[in-house]
Amino acid sequence: MNRGYFITFEGLDGSGKTTQLRHLAASLSADGYRVVTLRQPGGTPLGDRIRSVLLDSRSEDDLGGIAPEAEMALMFADRAQSLRQVILPALAEGAIVLCDRYTDSSEAYQGAGRDLGPERILAMHRTVCNGVQPDLTLLLLPPLHSSLHRARRRNDRHAHQHGTDENRFEREGDLFYTRVYEQYAEIARREKQRVVVIADEAPIATIATCILEVVRARLPETDVLAQRRDRPQTL
Ligand code: TYD
Repeated sequence: MNRGYFITFEGLDGSGKTTQLRHLAASLSADGYRVVTLRQPGGTPLGDRIRSVLLDSRSEDDLGGIAPEAEMALMFADRAQSLRQVILPALAEGAIVLCDRYTDSSEAYQGAGRDLGPERILAMHRTVCNGVQPDLTLLLLPPLHSSLHRARRRNDRHAHQHGTDENRFEREGDLFYTRVYEQYAEIARREKQRVVVIADEAPIATIATCILEVVRARLPETDVLAQRRDRPQTL
C-alpha cells in the first residue's frame, strides 16, 4: 500500500509554526517530494466556513458566544472533512502532508484552555478521526511570554489593517494560554516518539534547518522515499 508521511505543526499562536511549515514545504518540494499543505481549522470549502465562525471575534456578539462543547465539535467537524477530502487521499498517493495544527491543538485549547479535559478530546479523536495520528509532530514551544507577545502584536496589526481582529482565541487571557502551554508540554512528555519539541528562540533560518534535519532523518524509515518524483529509475 502506498503510504505518505503525515507531519503536523503545533504551538501557541505566534510561535512561528506557519512560517516554519512554509520553509519545510519548500525544502521538501525542492528535494522532489510531493508535498500537500493545509491548516486547521480550514483547508476545505466546508472547513473554511467553519473557520470563519470559529475565529471571527464577532461570533461573540452575533452568535451570543460559542459553547466550549460546540467549539470542540466544530473543530472536529472541520478535521473529519479535511481527513476525508485532503489528508487521507494525499497520504494514499504517497505525498508528504504538512498540516498546520491537528488534534493536539484541540487537546491543548479546548481540553485545557477551555477546561473540557483531555480525555473528552481524545475520545472524540478516536470516534471522529478513527484515531489517525501524525507520523511526526513538530511542536514549537518557545517560552510562553515571547509567544504571547508575538501573538498580541500580530493581532493588533491585523485589527489596525482590517478593522477586526480575526482570532477569537487571541483575545484570551494569560491564564488560558498558560493552560494551553502546559498541556502541550504534557502531550510532548506523553508521546516522546511522535512529538519533537523545538523550544529555542533561534532565528527562523536556524530553526528551519533543525526541522529539516529532523524530518530528513525520519523519512527513510518509510515508504515515502519511493514516492520521490525525481527518483532515478533502477533496472
Ligand atoms: P490561526 O489564525 O490559524 O492561528 P495560528 O496561526 O496561531 O494557528 O487560528 C487558529 C486558532 O484556532 C488558534 O488560536 C488555535 C485555535 N484552535 C483550537 O482552539 N482548537 C483546534 O483544534 C484548532 C485546530 C485550532
